[in-house]
Amino acid sequence: MDKAKYIWMDGKLVAWDDAKTHVLTHTLHYGNGVFEGTRAYMTENGLAIFKLKEHTKRLLNSAKITRITPTFTQEELELAQIELLRSNDFTANVYIRPLIYLGYGIMGLYHVNAPVQTAIAAWPWGSYLGEDGLEKGIRVKISSFVRNPVSSTMGKAKAAANYLNSQLAKYEAVEAGYEEALLLDDDGFIAEGSGECVFIVRNGVLISPPNDTSLESITQGMVLELAREAGITIERRRVSRDEVYIADEAFFTGTAAEVTPIRDVDNYVIGDGKRGIITTQLQKAYFDVVYGRNPKYKHLLTYI
Ligand SMILES: Cc1ncc(COP(=O)(O)O)c(C=O)c1O
Repeated sequence: MDKAKYIWMDGKLVAWDDAKTHVLTHTLHYGNGVFEGTRAYMTENGLAIFKLKEHTKRLLNSAKITRITPTFTQEELELAQIELLRSNDFTANVYIRPLIYLGYGIMGLYHVNAPVQTAIAAWPWGSYLGEDGLEKGIRVKISSFVRNPVSSTMGKAKAAANYLNSQLAKYEAVEAGYEEALLLDDDGFIAEGSGECVFIVRNGVLISPPNDTSLESITQGMVLELAREAGITIERRRVSRDEVYIADEAFFTGTAAEVTPIRDVDNYVIGDGKRGIITTQLQKAYFDVVYGRNPKYKHLLTYI
């Protein structure tokens, strides 16, 4: 991975190579830690973080859900991310990874006395599913792993522990020759990708499953807003696997994945196997927003 100069750790900027933790760090053993994935784009007016407030709020909500008491406020965390990007002098798009975790000091599951630590890293990161993927679409496999059910894990939290499920689904899909996994829920309906929410288009209608079994995706929310503004009919409802196979278009949304077209699922070609018309329209609209080219949404950007 591309390194940066500094990582922010509990209020201090630490040299990248010195940002270390003890092997008995609680989160390393039991997986209770929460994180965010946020992007900053190099706009015409310099680097700008997209939806800093929303991502930071979700981080704090994730901590609340997993019974971690944060040691920094929303405002302090926002300022820390700005400070980090300023000090690193980035010249290209970056990905920001804030992490609140339980540090070294106690072992055993009951974590009330574990020290809460916060780290924020940022580094240059291009498109998660490839430049080619953004243009031509990616190949997707329905996963044999069911998405973590709401009855046992709490999917509104972007919690490290939830990602074992995503990680195994992704591994399986890539090993089988695909680029991404699409997970079903407990009832066999479409839940989400390993790190993305999913949309399909049928007869001009844009459909995305409700967030019952997916993260409350910030990108999905933005794309829905842009679709509404463009007068596209939207449905939020369950989608079955076979409905994806016969969709005219399909795409993933996520901070990392941005708006990535899906060109086939389980070797069923979606539409004509290319980025569809509505996908193209929404992808362009999304990039216009994050790159500060749409004046209506400039307030969503925090310029560094
Ligand atoms: C499991 C999962 N679903 C959906 C998303 C998309 O969420 P967002 O658009 O807020 O990045 C992500 C990425 O954060 C994710 O990890």
